[in-house]
Amino acid sequence: VNGDSDAKNLRVKLVLLGDSGVGKTCIVLRFVRGQFDPTSKVTVGASFLSQTIALQDSTTVKFEIWDTAGQERYAALAPLYYRGAAVAVIAYDITNPDSFHKAQHWVKELQKHGSPDIVLALVGNKADLQEKREVSVQDGIDYAEKNGMFFIETSAKTADNINQLFEEIAKRLP
Ligand code: GTP
Repeated sequence: VNGDSDAKNLRVKLVLLGDSGVGKTCIVLRFVRGQFDPTSKVTVGASFLSQTIALQDSTTVKFEIWDTAGQERYAALAPLYYRGAAVAVIAYDITNPDSFHKAQHWVKELQKHGSPDIVLALVGNKADLQEKREVSVQDGIDYAEKNGMFFIETSAKTADNINQLFEEIAKRLP
């Protein structure tokens, strides 16, 4: 957790990484605004939003969220956003195996170049598209476990597990 925080009011820099189209922007907008946009546009560079949640012990956690652009042409910018991040959320689309492989690439990069105590979360998004699933829940669980990551499947469309994602991250902060 970043420097100027105390036990009651934490401020957390969180970076969201993953292939273009997996739903990163939709996850953030669902969490911050409670909305879903089926015509969400590709992110250019990165965008910033923040949201504060209260935990049961009355601690508040302000997430300062950097939603990065997933298109390959922006890959070189990623270090600007993950540098100093306390949390990295690495997302893939459960209907797209390539995006799962891309997520694994991000995990390796973060393990090498992220903060040593960074909290890593693996998110399988678009869980509402069960009939198009191509990455099994077990594959997500196994990969996350091997890499000491928190794992959850979400749907930005239905809001399933979106708040839980951020609550579980908050509980895992060092
Ligand atoms: P980049 O900005 O290019 O990195 O993409 P992104 O990961 O931010 O994807 P974005 O949030 O823009 O979503 C891409 C597309 O997936 C949009 O058409 C969304 O409406 C759709 N989408 C996002 N989340 C979900 C979801 O949970 N379920 C379904 N069915 N569609 C989703």
